[in-house]
Amino acid sequence: MRRPIVAGNWKMHGSRTTASELLAGIKEGVDSVRNVGVVICPPYVYLDQVASLLKGTPISIGAQNLCQVTGHGAYTGEISGQMLRDLGCQHVIVGHSERRNIYGESDALVAEKSIAAHHADLTPIICVGELLEEREQGDTEKVVGRQLDALLSTAEGIEALRHSIVAYEPVWAIGTGKTATPEQAQDVHAFIRGRLAQIDQVLAEKVCILYGGSVKPGNAVELFGMKDIDGGLIGGASLNTDDFLAICRAAE
Ligand code: PGA
Repeated sequence: MRRPIVAGNWKMHGSRTTASELLAGIKEGVDSVRNVGVVICPPYVYLDQVASLLKGTPISIGAQNLCQVTGHGAYTGEISGQMLRDLGCQHVIVGHSERRNIYGESDALVAEKSIAAHHADLTPIICVGELLEEREQGDTEKVVGRQLDALLSTAEGIEALRHSIVAYEPVWAIGTGKTATPEQAQDVHAFIRGRLAQIDQVLAEKVCILYGGSVKPGNAVELFGMKDIDGGLIGGASLNTDDFLAICRAAE
């Protein structure tokens, strides 16, 4: 049985003040959320503050990115997995479509980052998903398959996947208010699980596959009710305490 997970991706939003306010509300309400892993991914600069505010709660902390290089070194502007661990992170988002599409992160780099996260004892939340034109051309499975294969083609990648969460986020649904229908999402989730099962049946059964892309309190129950959808990666709605908690409860 996979335990559902709901992760909030704050992206580049907030301040020290709004981070405290948001967390105060979430801490208060999280006790009413049963049997769901809750993860908060604030910007790097608020990780330390968020970690101290969440001490003693069941909420986990994640970063939104990391450097593909393990350890430390001359990589100006980069943050390593070890540094994130040091700050109290247990998770890290890898290969979010905004990293892939705005910053040109390739499938190979995303695979390297996922492996680096695993080596640093972090659980990568590995994002995959197609652009609108790729869906319209009928290429969704080709694209998602290629993104997964960057990991499935090496022993280290498979080992990292064993300790990962996968997030299917159709790029056309992110921040647009357009959600994939539960059936559209389920089809891709089943495809992902099937692809993993070709390599390792146990891995495929164990890995949590989250859906992301305009998840709201009004559509979360239906989406999370699908067989292969094990929770969500939440952007916009994670910046509102009531909405985020309602989505967490929808995953129960
Ligand atoms: P959204 O973002 O919920 O605002 O669509 C999801 C994501 O980018 O992870």
